[in-house]
Amino acid sequence: MKSIPERIQLAHLPTPIQKMDQLSRELGKNIYIKRDDYTGVEISGNKIRKLEFAAKEALQQQADVLITCGGLQSNHARATAAAARRLGLKCHLVLRGTPGDSWTGNLFLDKLLGAEITFLEPETFNSRHMEVMEEIKHEYAKKQMKSYLLPVGASNGIGTFGYYAAYEEICQQEKNLDQGFDAIVTAVGSGGTCAGLVMGNWRHEGKHRIIGVPVADNATYFRGVIQDIMKEATTLAGWDQVPEAKTYQLIDGYVGRGYALNTSEEMAFIEYIAQKEGIILDPVYTGKAFRGLVEEIRKGSFDDLNDILFIHTGGLFGIFDKIGEF
Ligand SMILES: Cc1ncc(COP(=O)(O)O)c(C=O)c1O
Repeated sequence: MKSIPERIQLAHLPTPIQKMDQLSRELGKNIYIKRDDYTGVEISGNKIRKLEFAAKEALQQQADVLITCGGLQSNHARATAAAARRLGLKCHLVLRGTPGDSWTGNLFLDKLLGAEITFLEPETFNSRHMEVMEEIKHEYAKKQMKSYLLPVGASNGIGTFGYYAAYEEICQQEKNLDQGFDAIVTAVGSGGTCAGLVMGNWRHEGKHRIIGVPVADNATYFRGVIQDIMKEATTLAGWDQVPEAKTYQLIDGYVGRGYALNTSEEMAFIEYIAQKEGIILDPVYTGKAFRGLVEEIRKGSFDDLNDILFIHTGGLFGIFDKIGEF
């Protein structure tokens, strides 16, 4: 294959790009936001773009069940549960942790959408979630049902084409809006979004600086992950080279207390943006990543950039699990 894989249409595209007027004035830069939180409602955020490619492959393989995994409040798990229903399939989720009384946000929606859920203690999840998904697949096979497995965040070779295509969408919008961007910034949670943007910029010889802000682990870890995803994707597309790690920038320092844990500064920042711009960021991904961007601009790290596009990758349902922290 010499072109990118096929997809089905699930998302409402293209998502709008808006200028954040008040914040731009305050920071002395033009800050734009691409509203990938508008890709849909049940199947919303960045996951839907990856699911368009993964679900196509699942349908081509005649799958009956989509099996995937993630945290208790995984946006990807909820989006997969909704996508499965839309396509007439079953969904089985393997989630990290146990819910206790907290059946809220994405987890509540997983249930409402009728997903089967296997809860694993965090240590078991960390060491065995892929094996557990294989065991579940085996159980469905005994019932003559075919499973399609998606990794955490659908961040693999096929899923990352969602953001390869999103990069092309941004280039088209630059022409339509007559507005170029110096940099495109995204949260990095499992790496697929950033990997797709990097591949798009590289294949199209774009001049954008692609900047990722990890919200878990660190830049060194994610550089390895992103290179692996891109290697898998370029093999799928039949391209003979993988973009080098120097073609993008990852910024450390904004993980805070850890993945899906928040500091009072992060919550205050989400409130600040809500009241400055009328835009709600989520606490796990976009709140941390956008805070990273704003802090770095304030520190002068991006003095060479004027027009910066941040991708709002969604995740709004996750905020309902955190109300008590505001
Ligand atoms: C709302 C949201 N934003 C950003 C990300 C990070 O994207 P990626 O996993 O592709 O790095 C995720 C998922 O991990 C997410 O759910």
